[in-house]
Amino acid sequence: MEKNPDNTLHNYKFEVPEIIFGRGMLSQVGACARRLGGKKVFLVSDKGLFHAGWVDQAMRSLLDAGLEFIYYDGITPNPKDHEIEGGVREYHRHGADVIVGLGGGSSMDAAKAIAILVSNGGRISDYEGPDRIIRPLPPLVLCPTTCGTGSDVSQFAIISDTEHLRKICIMSRCVAPDISLTDPNTLATLPDEFVGTTATDALSHAMEAFFSIASTTLTDVHAIKALRLLSSSLSNAVHERKPDDMENLARASLHAGMAFSNSMLGIVHALAHPIGGLYDANHGSINAILLPEVIRYDIPVVTEKLQELAWGLGHRANGDISAANERIQETLDSLLEASGAPRSLRSIGVLRKDLPELARQALKDVCIVTSPREADEEDLLRILERSY
Ligand SMILES: [Fe+2]
Repeated sequence: MEKNPDNTLHNYKFEVPEIIFGRGMLSQVGACARRLGGKKVFLVSDKGLFHAGWVDQAMRSLLDAGLEFIYYDGITPNPKDHEIEGGVREYHRHGADVIVGLGGGSSMDAAKAIAILVSNGGRISDYEGPDRIIRPLPPLVLCPTTCGTGSDVSQFAIISDTEHLRKICIMSRCVAPDISLTDPNTLATLPDEFVGTTATDALSHAMEAFFSIASTTLTDVHAIKALRLLSSSLSNAVHERKPDDMENLARASLHAGMAFSNSMLGIVHALAHPIGGLYDANHGSINAILLPEVIRYDIPVVTEKLQELAWGLGHRANGDISAANERIQETLDSLLEASGAPRSLRSIGVLRKDLPELARQALKDVCIVTSPREADEEDLLRILERSY
């Protein structure tokens, strides 16, 4: 791959959906669905958001736009293949024609996966890997209500394969929605424990996107912006939950999402997927645990970008690589500390005996392809051991 002097790709494409962002914008979800030609909306969300009142707001907006809707909340964290199949049956049974996903990564990835199956048929595992989707999906509007997933702008969908206890990673331009609609007001009801752990997902998206071998000038801009927003607001958002800080986390998630959707990810996510599949564990927490060791592993091959990142975050390292490295490690450490996310695989219930198999599975994950430093099974196992 041809590279620019700043180690970004020479030729590239950058794709994002239409983006609507702002407090109170959830009231526009009906207008968005109608604009996409929908008459009967398949609304995918979860019970937590229903109780918080956001589903009701979305339903009112759909009714105001003159649309019918079917509500589907048969989704759990780390959405499962059978939950997707249940959604597909409901979609067909009611003759829906547009999908709205409202929630965190689970609801949005589920909405994407339902969209894949309603127009392409088969089982969700048929679409694992890059570019396996043939037929166009129904119109899709995604509304994130956490501060980390980036699913609302990304070309990825992650679904749990319950038979083999692993995650299916689908990558296709088709799964990026038509419209990404963020209403930062919805973060007001996000439970405390998810503020930090979803923000660490955004943190790992931004870091991995920045160091990815497929990074471009445009993805770098968004990755750095995300990291700056996290640096300025994560600690305050976790401890005080002021609306401005919460909104900054929503913006960070959006920028990190645009970055990783176009440059892909790396070893953190390649390892996080099998761990999440086997233990049904929180995705942001797994990333928070793995990120320091993966960055340490990458450092020898990302020295130029490391300096650029230090500069982007406002650290003046003046060409001193070890100073830049120190500043980045300090930033990372303080963000992870502030997030309150767990710091060891043991603490989230991962069993040491499973580490070799997790390393083997990560080698097959699509995210490993864009890691800045190649890794074999032993390298991955070493990262897991150090994160244990
Ligand atoms: Fe992620």
